[in-house]
Amino acid sequence: MDNLNKSFQSPPWGDSGSFLSVKDAGNIDDLIKLALHYKQNPFAHQALGKGKRMGLLFLNPSMRTRLSTQIAAQNLGMEVIVFNASQDGWSLEFEDGAVMNGTTAEHVKDAAPILGNYFDILGVRTFPSLKNRDEDYAEKIINQFVKYANIPVVSLESATVHPLQSLTDIITISEHLPLKDKTKPKVVLIWAPHVKPLPQCVANSFAEWMNEWNQAEFVIAHPEGYELDKRFIRDALITHDPVKALNDADFVYVKNWSSYADYGKIIPVENDWMLTTEKLSVTNDAKVMHCLPVRRNIELSDEILDSSNSIVTEQAGNRVWAAQSVLSNILNGLT
Ligand code: CP
Repeated sequence: MDNLNKSFQSPPWGDSGSFLSVKDAGNIDDLIKLALHYKQNPFAHQALGKGKRMGLLFLNPSMRTRLSTQIAAQNLGMEVIVFNASQDGWSLEFEDGAVMNGTTAEHVKDAAPILGNYFDILGVRTFPSLKNRDEDYAEKIINQFVKYANIPVVSLESATVHPLQSLTDIITISEHLPLKDKTKPKVVLIWAPHVKPLPQCVANSFAEWMNEWNQAEFVIAHPEGYELDKRFIRDALITHDPVKALNDADFVYVKNWSSYADYGKIIPVENDWMLTTEKLSVTNDAKVMHCLPVRRNIELSDEILDSSNSIVTEQAGNRVWAAQSVLSNILNGLT
């Protein structure tokens, strides 16, 4: 193994060796540097994962996370098995002490140790219920996999955060830096409409990572009623005025989320919050980002998505390098 990879090890890599949020990320700039190294040299550390197996457990749908994590693990020489648990597995129970006389067939206490037995690293995707805020924000489901699997768990998006996405987002922003005329880019996370209630995960996570990275002027714009949990946004500048937010912006991250206060609900908004070319005209010819999938002409107009301002494809491409950077750190911590 070369010195570049060795130098990025920052053990302990999370208390359990898991990667569940920015708190497990160590030095973000080191992760970015390693990710960009892998972008140039995908197979630089093929020997690192040799003889190791990763399970990817999906309790909810995915395209990018599923494929990019699989590619990343394979680039590191790991064997990968994808398990679409919500479609192909037994229906899992997560209540402690449950009398299982209903629809659930297997308790996570029984299933997770077996996954821990089969795999060296386990990736889990689990969306929030959007019904019970306390349970969702306690990360009841992914934490039980951490507790019972006894191997490092990687969040492939959980109830409240999407850390591999956020690392990707910051990698993508950093590739467009430095700017000619500014020391710090202005990055705007802007709410967009959607036809159904979506989790707050991507917005929470992006805010949390941007705060931790602390290398941009960070603004969040949303209609009233869509305030995010303070624990994630901390001291970020919040506005209900999209024009003010977009003014002189260098990066605009478009994302819908449902209400946190009126948990999981869509609250009707008066103004049209869909980003258009006209609205983008007050920015510093901003790069437009979205985690995808995107509802065209609801969240973002065709004209923006099909323009040179959009970097959504490049952003999704970087999912591989973010995942590879994280997985290689976890592999370095395995005995
Ligand atoms: N952005 C993202 O997580 O995409 P998928 O849901 O397709 O994995």
